[in-house]
Amino acid sequence: MQKVVLIGANGQLGSELAKIFFDHDLVPLTHADLDIADAKGIEKVLGQHSPDLILNTAAYHRVDECEEFPARAYEVNALAVRHLAQWAKAHNSVLLHVSTDYVFDGCLRRPYTEADPPGPLSAYAVSKLAGEYFIRAILDRHVIVRTCGLYGIAGSSGKGGNFVETMLRLATEGKEIRVVDDQVLTPTSAKELARKVRQLVETGAYGLYHMTNNGACSWYEFAAAIFELSGLTPRLEPTTSAAFGARANRPAYSVLDNAKLRSVGLDDLRDWRVALKEYLEERTHMVLSA
Ligand SMILES: NC(=O)c1ccc[n+]([C@@H]2O[C@H](COP(=O)([O-])OP(=O)(O)OC[C@H]3O[C@@H](n4cnc5c(N)ncnc54)[C@H](OP(=O)(O)O)[C@@H]3O)[C@@H](O)[C@H]2O)c1
Repeated sequence: MQKVVLIGANGQLGSELAKIFFDHDLVPLTHADLDIADAKGIEKVLGQHSPDLILNTAAYHRVDECEEFPARAYEVNALAVRHLAQWAKAHNSVLLHVSTDYVFDGCLRRPYTEADPPGPLSAYAVSKLAGEYFIRAILDRHVIVRTCGLYGIAGSSGKGGNFVETMLRLATEGKEIRVVDDQVLTPTSAKELARKVRQLVETGAYGLYHMTNNGACSWYEFAAAIFELSGLTPRLEPTTSAAFGARANRPAYSVLDNAKLRSVGLDDLRDWRVALKEYLEERTHMVLSA
């Protein structure tokens, strides 16, 4: 049986990976167990467990905050990832690392393939791309999974919830909700992503893979679907990125083509609306049974 170390184990994706890898010899590590920015900590903790496979979901991904603290973004998203890759190479481990659709500039306006050149627009995106490049430069036996618009039951502790939870909370406050309509993405269920990550690991394939639910929408359309599927009717208005005025630039279009996954024999993930409906039902069930 493979020994698997999971970093970021109580995050949105991490907590779903912990469930899906339950039948492995799994060591789930939270931020309190291991800070990947601490090089000595990596040596000590990974040395204790000697994993065959490292799953790294940890990131500093408050995208606007990264503009103010680019050195911290680089430390966690690039240098720490470099160290993980170095450790994996020295100890003959496989590293699976999670990256982002934000490595692209959004100018193409058609789904991005793994072969398309990146063009990061923010400190966060540059740091995540640097993390990818370090892995590729150091370690042959790696898997990099780029995903997009993640939401999961655990909520992102780093971001204080997730977009779905934020929308549901705002709907209860009775104010007008403005959401950008000029950034197109694919909302992706952390649960479904975790299932597909496991399938990909089982193929034994290495390299860079795009992995998202199917289809595309703007953040405004995502919000509208959340309210429609929840039977809520708050005042929802579309706005533009310019009017919204976030500190970090984001791609206007960051839909990822999952064709490379199909090339290793894996099915597409489901349509984003189907996965969203399942998430909303699951969270309702959890609230009712709490
Ligand atoms: N969320 C999205 O929309 C999105 C989109 C595309 C790609 N991604 C990528 O997907 C991955 C997973 O995202 P997620 O939404 O699951 O994030 P998340 O819920 O915030 O989980 C990240 C986990 O990593 C931990 N962590 C943060 N900094 C750490 C450090 N220095 N050392 C060790 N652990 C640390 C966090 O713990 P604390 O909270 O306690 O610090 C948290 O448990 C990330 O690599 C992210 O860049 C996310």
